[in-house]
Amino acid sequence: MSKRQFNNILITGGSGFIGANFIHYLFKQEFQGNVINIDKLTYAGNPENLKDIEKKSKYFFYQADICDYDKCKDIILKHNIDCVVHFAAESHVDRSIHGPKDFIYTNIIGTFNLLEICRNLWKDKDNTLFHHISTDEVFGSLGDSGYFFENTPYDPRSPYSASKASSDHLVSAYFHTYELPVTISNCSNNYGAYQFPEKLIPLMILNLQEGENLPVYGDGKNIRDWLYVEDHCSGIYSIIQNGNVGETYNIGGENEWENIKLVNKMCSIMDELFPDNSPHNKLITYVKDRPGHDRRYAINCNKIKDELGWKQSVDFETGLRKTINWYLSNTNWINNIKSGTYKNWLQKNYESR
Ligand code: NAD
Ligand code: TYD
Repeated sequence: MSKRQFNNILITGGSGFIGANFIHYLFKQEFQGNVINIDKLTYAGNPENLKDIEKKSKYFFYQADICDYDKCKDIILKHNIDCVVHFAAESHVDRSIHGPKDFIYTNIIGTFNLLEICRNLWKDKDNTLFHHISTDEVFGSLGDSGYFFENTPYDPRSPYSASKASSDHLVSAYFHTYELPVTISNCSNNYGAYQFPEKLIPLMILNLQEGENLPVYGDGKNIRDWLYVEDHCSGIYSIIQNGNVGETYNIGGENEWENIKLVNKMCSIMDELFPDNSPHNKLITYVKDRPGHDRRYAINCNKIKDELGWKQSVDFETGLRKTINWYLSNTNWINNIKSGTYKNWLQKNYESR
């Protein structure tokens, strides 16, 4: 199979969790082209995530909003972009419940803008690709059995997943209607370095470290499938190189955990690391459930495995320990986040349920 090669990759949302990991991944792979990052730098975008990359001659950064058509078009034109890897989004379900508006603008209008720009600029250009990053949450909530497949009907249930579903549909529509070369990936919950500590795993690490309560929503029996972020990155890279244009690929960890079991596991790792504070699970506190909380997500990712030869490379034990160690050793990164509006948000989140 001959791989697609690109000269100038545009990453949107490259200063966020997965986007930053993907930029690190590209440089580790010795990607030969230029890497251009457009990021609005919302609360979730953090230039520190890329401080080792900033000085590289093949890296370019623009602080820009994907809802700003003219600015994005100028950047795409200036850098002769031939591949867009679109991560930029409002990504946190709880925030979408408190205030869906930004989710509609960024996730739907922002995606529409990028599609329009590429449709206009790529009319006569060969070897281009728009790769859209999405989530398994578009498929809704599973019962005790079954999996999400690429052709599972969409059934989004939070403002976040509804906005992502809408963007996925727009991307597919641009392929069918305008023949824009696109690929889409829907993945499960990522974990790893640089994740903003409002999501379950990094939030629990910070609270464990500080001896604060570990808020578990509802009965704690909701299930998520956890994917190590670097495995997600290798999946995306294999799709942009070899994926079939117009198609969707699921990427999953094949690693389902009940929330409460996962939090207990993290407590036992902390017991090993800090025996004086044991048992850490005394900090577990059940709190009011998230409204419309999806019960279970589980992905079947046989398609990317069979067709593109991708597989996960990091087992959960290793990935979780690496992640915990990363947060414990990157205290400046954490302190800089905490000195912002971080605590206010967490308080508001729990108070207003
Ligand atoms: P994140 O919230 O950590 O980062 C999002 C980035 O997008 C930030 O850097 C932010 O500044 C930027 N951004 C937000 N609005 C923007 C705008 N209007 N213009 C330009 N930049 C903007 O998110 P993440 O966890 O890295 O997720 C990346 C993508 O992966 C998203 O599309 C998300 O839906 C998808 N996804 C995430 C997960 C997960 O577990 N984190 C799982 C499945 C899919
Ligand atoms: P989260 O990391 O917000 O990802 P998502 O909602 O996109 O799956 O949450 C993962 C799971 O953990 C989800 O079932 C909600 C639950 N959760 C808690 O129990 N406590 C928390 O403080 C957070 C942030 C999440």
